[in-house]
Amino acid sequence: MRLPKAGTIEIAPSILDADFARLADEIAAVELAGVNMVHLDVMDGHFVPNITIGPPVIAKLRKVSRLVFDSHLMISEPARYAEHFVQAGVNHITFHIEAADEPKKLIDKLHKLGVTAGICLNPGTPVEQIQTIAPLCDMVLVMTVQPGFGGQKFMPEAAKKIARIRKIVGPGIRIEVDGGIDSQTAPIVVSYGADTLVVGHAIFSKPDRAAAINTIREAYGQRG
Ligand code: DX5
Ligand code: ZN
Repeated sequence: MRLPKAGTIEIAPSILDADFARLADEIAAVELAGVNMVHLDVMDGHFVPNITIGPPVIAKLRKVSRLVFDSHLMISEPARYAEHFVQAGVNHITFHIEAADEPKKLIDKLHKLGVTAGICLNPGTPVEQIQTIAPLCDMVLVMTVQPGFGGQKFMPEAAKKIARIRKIVGPGIRIEVDGGIDSQTAPIVVSYGADTLVVGHAIFSKPDRAAAINTIREAYGQRG
């Protein structure tokens, strides 16, 4: 399982708003809807004011899902824990530029460990901070909410960074966008050049997860 090559638009359901007591079923439901990846939000209560799941839970999910595991580490000291996440079975690791002392070294380490690497920037972080390392990554993740919680309101100004990043990285690197993506905001971020849409609340707050995914696909012009 690898991050899909750039050139397709992918929806990556975020499990943050899923029923955590039935995680395997929730992941199976989005897999049935035909998504290729699932977005795993890892929070440490330190880098962000919330705590979610870590390697032990991910290792169990790995046994029941064939989806690409796109892990989003909202943690301090990501380099210290990267290997644990790889051992648990994630296929991709995105870490925050605001949390990493030596981002280039960590990208190299992730590639050596056999996973793809992503760099993430918070809404208030300027594009300049990732300019030199973005081209070394497989994916750049643009936050359009302050990280920590699902179901927040999309920040339009933060989304505008997508177009600038697309110019820097060209067509071969994925640009993922995370926070407040639904059928209204998905077409906007796709028009800026995003190709990987993290969607939490707009899928898992709806009784029919597959129908919710198809509504978003139709909004940006992909037939279900
Ligand atoms: C926020 C997380 C997101 C979030 C997205 O800190 O990184 O992945 O769960 O959820 P929605 O789509 O509800 O904004
Ligand atoms: Zn996320």
